[in-house]
Amino acid sequence: MKIAVLTSGGDAPGMNAAIRAVVRYADYYDIEVYGVERGYAGLIAGNLSIMSRRSVSDIIQRGGTKLRTARSAEFETYEGQKQAAKVLSFYGIDGLVVIGGDGSFRGLQAISKNFGVKGVGIPGTIDNDLSYTDYTLGFDTAVNTCVSAINNLRDTMSSHDRVVVVQVMGRRCGDLALYSALSGGAEVVMVPEHKTDYDKISRKLLKNVEKGKQSGIIVLAEGASPLDEVVSELKARTGLSFRSIVLGHLQRGGAPSMADRVLATRMGAKAVDLLRDGMVGARVVGIKDNAIIDMDIEDALNVPRHTNEALYELANIVSR
Ligand code: F6P
Repeated sequence: MKIAVLTSGGDAPGMNAAIRAVVRYADYYDIEVYGVERGYAGLIAGNLSIMSRRSVSDIIQRGGTKLRTARSAEFETYEGQKQAAKVLSFYGIDGLVVIGGDGSFRGLQAISKNFGVKGVGIPGTIDNDLSYTDYTLGFDTAVNTCVSAINNLRDTMSSHDRVVVVQVMGRRCGDLALYSALSGGAEVVMVPEHKTDYDKISRKLLKNVEKGKQSGIIVLAEGASPLDEVVSELKARTGLSFRSIVLGHLQRGGAPSMADRVLATRMGAKAVDLLRDGMVGARVVGIKDNAIIDMDIEDALNVPRHTNEALYELANIVSR
């Protein structure tokens, strides 16, 4: 049996650990693994090479992706998918493992539906925006990176009696902001799932001033409200001293946490098991209540987005 593995979309810590798990777990069952460089773009171009056990040495601890990644517009077309399917059949590949986010899964769904390619998606994105799984690879590490930044910001903000607005990534999903705010002890969290209410936030900040606290941390999800607007609206309402920071791509890099390494290894092994067991179509793996699960890709992509309201409430209660 031959399988191929690629990483696609935004890189996430833990992708390397997942590649390593796929290669080594497959090797254990004498399955040959081809690594595809630069995601679907590399697949279309035929950039594949065999990966040995040794080729994945010394990567479990590294962020980014050894196979590199890309967002391919060509793969969104029927012709692009046709070419990619041709490459897979030329190499005699029986199954494709795609490590990526929502867009990468839609690509896998399309090539499977249109050209009968068999494949498994492993959720790899710092955004945690795939609802069928409790966690995506890279999320835990990215939250820890944000929390570390918040810790440093706290020192300087409380020394100067300032409020900082920390913008974090996450696209339309507020999880990265919510978990970072909760674990960083932020005074305010702003997520796309809740409408921005500047009056309410201002009242909270001013109440803190009454209690003797002039400084604060506001964690802003990039999908919630524009950073400049947040600073100017809150400054005008409170008269407090504000600073702002965009954590940006800093939060995408770094050594994966223990949680991401373990999750990557469990998911990588599950993906290989599904292909070994003669699955059909395209499936995804995930984690629910600490058990590794798998699902049809279409069902997984149709799971409606739900926000963790209880955690949002809790973050607001304990930050009062
Ligand atoms: O999907 C991961 C992510 O980091 C998002 O949180 C962010 O909006 C986007 O990718 C940034 O994309 P790029 O790396 O292309 O600038």
